[in-house]
Amino acid sequence: MKAIEIRNKYLNFFKEHGHNIIPSAPLIPENDPSVLFTTAGMQPLVPYLLGEKHPEGKRLTDYQKCIRTNDIEEVGDNRHLTYFEMLGNWSLGDYFKEESIQMSYDFLTKELKIPAEKISVTCFAGDEDCPRDNVSAECWKKAGIPEERIYFYGKDDNWWIAGEEGPCGPDTEMFYDTGKPACSEDCQPSCDCGKYVEIWNNVFMEYFKDEKGNYRKLEQKNVDTGLGLERMTMLLQGKETPFDTELFKPVMDKLHELQKIDNIQSRRIVAEHLRSSMMIISDGGKPSNTDRGYILRRLIRRMIRHLNKLQINLDELSTLIDINVDNLKEMYPELEKNREDIKLTIIEEKNKFVKTLAHGEKEFTKEMNKAKELGKDKIDGQIVFRLYDTYGFPPEVTKELAEENGMKIDLKEFNELFKQHQEKSRSGSEQKFKGGLAEQTEETICYHTATHLLNAALKVVIGKDVHQKGSNITTERMRFDFSCDHKLTDEEKQKVEDLVNEWIKDELPVTKTEMKKEDAIKSGAECMFIEKYPDIVTVYSIGDVSKELCGGPHVTNTSELGQFKIKKEEASSAGVRRIKAVLIK
Ligand code: ALA
Repeated sequence: MKAIEIRNKYLNFFKEHGHNIIPSAPLIPENDPSVLFTTAGMQPLVPYLLGEKHPEGKRLTDYQKCIRTNDIEEVGDNRHLTYFEMLGNWSLGDYFKEESIQMSYDFLTKELKIPAEKISVTCFAGDEDCPRDNVSAECWKKAGIPEERIYFYGKDDNWWIAGEEGPCGPDTEMFYDTGKPACSEDCQPSCDCGKYVEIWNNVFMEYFKDEKGNYRKLEQKNVDTGLGLERMTMLLQGKETPFDTELFKPVMDKLHELQKIDNIQSRRIVAEHLRSSMMIISDGGKPSNTDRGYILRRLIRRMIRHLNKLQINLDELSTLIDINVDNLKEMYPELEKNREDIKLTIIEEKNKFVKTLAHGEKEFTKEMNKAKELGKDKIDGQIVFRLYDTYGFPPEVTKELAEENGMKIDLKEFNELFKQHQEKSRSGSEQKFKGGLAEQTEETICYHTATHLLNAALKVVIGKDVHQKGSNITTERMRFDFSCDHKLTDEEKQKVEDLVNEWIKDELPVTKTEMKKEDAIKSGAECMFIEKYPDIVTVYSIGDVSKELCGGPHVTNTSELGQFKIKKEEASSAGVRRIKAVLIK
């Protein structure tokens, strides 16, 4: 079964079971400054898991594009991916354990036709925060999994939370037995030997963990599930790795044809990082030295070094991108739409990197020889940092170079230097490295409403075709990117600031309505990615000055915002300007 068929079967199955299909949110979260990328299907749904009413109801299903970069260095082995697609279904205060487990069992055994004897499951063993999950175990037995294939583990294995704080709870995980021989008598689903592969995770989200580490019960009991599409595709096709499935095969074959030096690991790294970079760019990402842009930069640069290792001419990048777009456009039509932008962005980044790559490699060799002469087996973090700062070498590139020469790098020291550098260059950046899903704070909610006012003010002052291109909010400031072909004059900046402050003084009410997407558009509501919204949308209006499609949350009256002040106006990219602003209370 092909990946797209698995996706369609999944969505249809849950639709038949009363779920509404919602679109994948973009990889770059719109109003959540606490994470760099969308890392799970539940992430865009956090406000609804916490109790806000979802316009599409209490039973939802989708496929969600996800990026997880914690294991970026592992890519190249037979299973790690930075981009993956997560199929998910949710109950927002509707069904709970029994129905969720029965549906999972039926989908796996009846729709995907996985023999029940290949499935093992794990449940939460219980601790001081939450009791043992005997209910789930009973549900599994009732569905058809015998007791000997039901395992209990603690928080490390059977508890799920995104980051450090947020909605969370015990989970039950399903494992596929590949039929490989057990590595020992104690071989169990928790074992890493490869016999058991995790295929699906159902989280029973009824707790909230706060920043102090305390758990409280949520108002509603939710179910949040996640099934990794690439992994499931690989297993159902009896393949050893996701790179052997149709998702990667065309590009892997082309790399094989073009390579002058055979290296399967490098081929996998190129194929994987290329797909991730393309997905990030098509959702609006640009390479840079901070935050998301830095991750994209690392993906592209590491890919380029591995193309070099394979001795593939870098001019072939354009062909490789075309192969990927053609192969994946049925699943992700946005790739076709952004084909040229993807090419331009990757090729521009390649051009930047090749300028410094050769010099950097020379510098690396010099430093490595020095270290060797001193009897060291590790390259100092300061050198790793200098290679990054001067030659644009991401640390994993230096690490690989070192390893190819039997050396290590001091990554810890590098990370400290990098962090200091980031803090110096941009205040508040550490906020986003926490990686957790912070609860919306009073400050971020105020900034969110101020973003709408700024968007409206720019339209009045600059012109109607100013549109939002991006936004980023922390508890301390807002950043707003918008289309505009010129640097704002001091007078324009002043006018925009005055207008926003006038609207704040006017104590305008902020109201929320749900309507059909087409009606919202007809009414002139502003929105960024129209195709990414479901059929029924939420529209926030501020007095009669602003109307935008948006998930919220917002303040109820502009009088709550304080004084608005523009701190900086600068170029963001071609035809896009950026305003940084604060609210002073
Ligand atoms: N949110 C859960 C996960 O990512 C389903 O595994």
